[in-house]
Amino acid sequence: MEKIAVEVKNLVVSYKEIPVLWDINLKIPKGCLFAIVGPNGAGKTTLLKAMLDLIKADAGFVNIDKTLKVSYVPQNSSVSWDFPATCFDVVLMGSYRSLGWIKRPGRKEKNNAAACLEKMGMLEFKDRQINELSGGQKQRVFLARALMEEGDIFFLDEPFRGVDVVTEKEIIRLLKSFKEEGKTAVLVHHDLSTLCEYFDYMALINKSLIAQGPCSEVLLSEKLTQAYNGKISPFGVGYANIASNVR
Ligand SMILES: Nc1ncnc2c1ncn2[C@@H]1O[C@H](COP(=O)(O)OP(=O)(O)O)[C@@H](O)[C@H]1O
Ligand SMILES: [Mg+2]
Repeated sequence: MEKIAVEVKNLVVSYKEIPVLWDINLKIPKGCLFAIVGPNGAGKTTLLKAMLDLIKADAGFVNIDKTLKVSYVPQNSSVSWDFPATCFDVVLMGSYRSLGWIKRPGRKEKNNAAACLEKMGMLEFKDRQINELSGGQKQRVFLARALMEEGDIFFLDEPFRGVDVVTEKEIIRLLKSFKEEGKTAVLVHHDLSTLCEYFDYMALINKSLIAQGPCSEVLLSEKLTQAYNGKISPFGVGYANIASNVR
């Protein structure tokens, strides 16, 4: 049987006593690319945060394999930097967890931070203030920090939002190379047309879990219509590209 990286069981999450997510049951296999998909306000970000214990659940539980080191890249727009930090600083922060807060990063960590920036094509911006970058450039820097953290499982909230197509393809290539190393990535994703190309499995949610499984199966099912409140049909007009990916 395949190993499970994350298990979510009967999860319920509320904001100020108003439930926004319920009946969430998920099994995310180790070594796969997993998409969380659903309309705006479906609770995708909330689910990711609840998985990471950044939000307290009302009921149910989340189990992340304890041997896995977790790395989280929040939704781009949600990160505001009102204190001065260069790209280099932000990436170097990725070493704090392994060093602990007491020890200061040394030469080794600094060289590693530069290498991670270079890998994401951002070395030339290393001294630039993070808030002086475009959305796509910021996303690259946050990915460089995730690289620095040397995680085994990555949680990324809409990493392709506001990035150009070249960056998107680079990010997916990077995640696929992680997968080759047996790592796992869980992404909130909203572009149905690239799901089958990018991901192995998906969970379709709209407040509760509507469907989960291999992308091709979920996309072809009537559940898609249900998740999007009747506004999308499987193989619907305008989604012919999904069909071509599936075949
Ligand atoms: N901090 C919060 N306080 C109250 N309601 C929130 C908060 N964050 C999100 N919500 C609500 O919870 C629901 C799910 O939000 P979210 O998880 O951000 O959805 P998604 O990421 O799928 O667009 C939405 O109705 C949203 O308005
Ligand atoms: Mg969101």
